[in-house]
Amino acid sequence: MANTAELTVDGKSYSFPTLEGTEHEKAFDISNLRDQTGYVTLDRGYKNTGATKSAITFLDGEEGILQYRGYAIEDLAAKASFLEVAYLLIYGDLPTKDQFTQFETSVRRHTLVNEDMRKIFDGFPVSAHPMGVLSSLVSAMSAFYPDLESGKEDNTDLHIIRLLAKLPTIATWSYKRSLGHPTNYPKNQLDYIPNFLNMMFSLPVEDYKIDPVVVEALNVLLILHADHEQNCSTSTVRLVGSSQANIYSSISAGISALWGPLHGGANQEVIEMLEAIKADGGDVSKYVDMAKNAKTTGFRLFGFGHRVYKNFDPRAKIIKKAADDVLSKLGVNDPVLEIAKGLEEAALNDEYFIQRKLYPNVDFYSGIIYRALGIPTNMFTVMFAIGRLPGWIAQWKEMREQKEPIGRPRQIYTGATLREFTPLESR
Ligand code: CMC
Repeated sequence: MANTAELTVDGKSYSFPTLEGTEHEKAFDISNLRDQTGYVTLDRGYKNTGATKSAITFLDGEEGILQYRGYAIEDLAAKASFLEVAYLLIYGDLPTKDQFTQFETSVRRHTLVNEDMRKIFDGFPVSAHPMGVLSSLVSAMSAFYPDLESGKEDNTDLHIIRLLAKLPTIATWSYKRSLGHPTNYPKNQLDYIPNFLNMMFSLPVEDYKIDPVVVEALNVLLILHADHEQNCSTSTVRLVGSSQANIYSSISAGISALWGPLHGGANQEVIEMLEAIKADGGDVSKYVDMAKNAKTTGFRLFGFGHRVYKNFDPRAKIIKKAADDVLSKLGVNDPVLEIAKGLEEAALNDEYFIQRKLYPNVDFYSGIIYRALGIPTNMFTVMFAIGRLPGWIAQWKEMREQKEPIGRPRQIYTGATLREFTPLESR
């Protein structure tokens, strides 16, 4: 039975329809609120605002559930390849064998980046953060495909393939140059993840042997990051795209949003925090105390807390186990892993964290795995971006297909009321 929500304002009653998603999450439909009542809502940080209807990802923060297109994250992480998951997110269903071969072959064939992009890249200082470079170069890609602007052809599928294929190539450039090493061209006989690893780690002077343990670990990490419904970077992609900006500009904006330390940038912050704790003698309780006094110290435990997960982050659960497995398989003994476990235990037993439902999130253990794979700290958020790319694409495409109106929130104005203008000579 359809429900309605009743609202009484200034002695007048209004009724608004409610709606329910396929997983029974409930909403008030206030699309006509301002027209009917003259009021808008105020919801800083959009904590209670459903910005769209979406059929891509479901998550239940209370139960710790995450599903892409109805498939449990635990199943996908254990059984699927990253490109299969990319196809699933973007096109709605798992690919058949033929569909996958076609998709995978197209991605394989588009890994090469226009040589003129190198000239843009060469203009960046060697010290540039790879996330700034990545965002700029993805935005620059739009300049290489004039059909984007003509509006005559719909080459969306081709642009999707280009983005998926070229992002790893571009991502490796910053790392190579930071070492003073030549950048590598992709080798299209290699699969997606081995191709990325080869561009990252091979040198002209010696062969790089691709370790299947590393490939598998990266496959899991990329799948876990692939989508997370309306988070900050995804909402950015949808908002920018809602002005009908092209896919490269929209995704470039998402990369910038992801870079922030409260979002994807947290994975770099976590390792830097763990290193600082180690250098400070390894006393985790001191840092837990500092975080409890965040209001005065300004210090937060990076990798803890989540806007939506208030029980546990299912991705963190998988990653914690993967960190143990990968480090032991690779024979890596990272003292920072012990500090991370100590910190987690201290925080989880502390009333401050229990009361506020603060649990380790996806970023808490991911950096430890990246480190064990040989990926440097300032590339961690780039890894997150490579993983999140299919999600951004899927959300951008859905936003377009649903013909969503341009995103344009309201505000409650708190500035000066009308003032009389005084000419400069009289001020
Ligand atoms: N350490 C200490 N206290 C915290 C933390 C933390 N990491 N996170 C939240 N709190 C406290 C906060 O001070 C507040 O306390 P009080 O009620 O006394 O004022 C309470 O918990 C609620 O915090 P909030 O900031 O209102 O929560 P939010 O939903 O707006 O923020 C968050 C979510 C992820 C931004 C936040 O938990 C945080 O800053 N965490 C650290 C950064 C981080 O790890 N980010 C990665 C998130 S997961 C991956 C991703 O999104 O990319």
